[in-house]
Amino acid sequence: MYRIAPSLLSADFARLGEEVRNVVASGADWIHFDVMDNHYVPNLTIGPLVCEAIRPHTTAPIDVHLMVKPVDRIVPDFAKAGANIITFHPEASEHIDRTLQLIRGCGCQAGLVFNPATPLHYLDHALDNIDLVLLMSVNPGFGGQKFIPGTLNKLRATRAKLDAYEAETGRHILLEIDGGVKVDNIAEIAAAGADTFVAGSAVFGGASDADAHRYDTVIRALRDELAKVEA
Ligand code: DX5
Ligand code: ZN
Repeated sequence: MYRIAPSLLSADFARLGEEVRNVVASGADWIHFDVMDNHYVPNLTIGPLVCEAIRPHTTAPIDVHLMVKPVDRIVPDFAKAGANIITFHPEASEHIDRTLQLIRGCGCQAGLVFNPATPLHYLDHALDNIDLVLLMSVNPGFGGQKFIPGTLNKLRATRAKLDAYEAETGRHILLEIDGGVKVDNIAEIAAAGADTFVAGSAVFGGASDADAHRYDTVIRALRDELAKVEA
């Protein structure tokens, strides 16, 4: 029912393959892959070559979060590199519907990402081509920031839209949250409607055995909190 997607942004970049294997062995459901271009956001990270390099290390879905502008040129490269899900920010694409169709045409699931101040109306005419909605609970660009509390109301509003859409069409769209998710707030975030949780610094900064890069304890703690919501 819930998915935990550790963000590689906080992993050890000098040993990414091992980090991917360890975090999945520790209970991660997805690998969240943050792509930044020093243009749409003020930071620079990893691209399709790194996605391709980690792909053989896991069968878990790779959830590519594109913080790049323009978007379309790079989409097929990520599909070829083994991405399963590709999300982008509507402000970064001149033609949102075209980009969504491009992602799905490449065989990936497609999603829109909403910055803290980006209105949800971008969803109104796009839901038929969307598999996942990602709400940012920090401004994109860096790991380790604090969860913006106003995101809880935005989550509830998004949940209502997606539930209404599912009641009408029978299509289930996932609702993912990204930024500042920790053991002490994941339960209230889930109660507000999220079903998929990106966690970067919480997971990779919370190794059970730092030398062995094991993350069981923190992922179990996140799941224990989620179990309280389900109960
Ligand atoms: C921020 C990225 C996030 C980030 C989350 O732009 O999209 O995925 O890595 O990191 P934490 O969980 O540390 O806030
Ligand atoms: Zn992200």
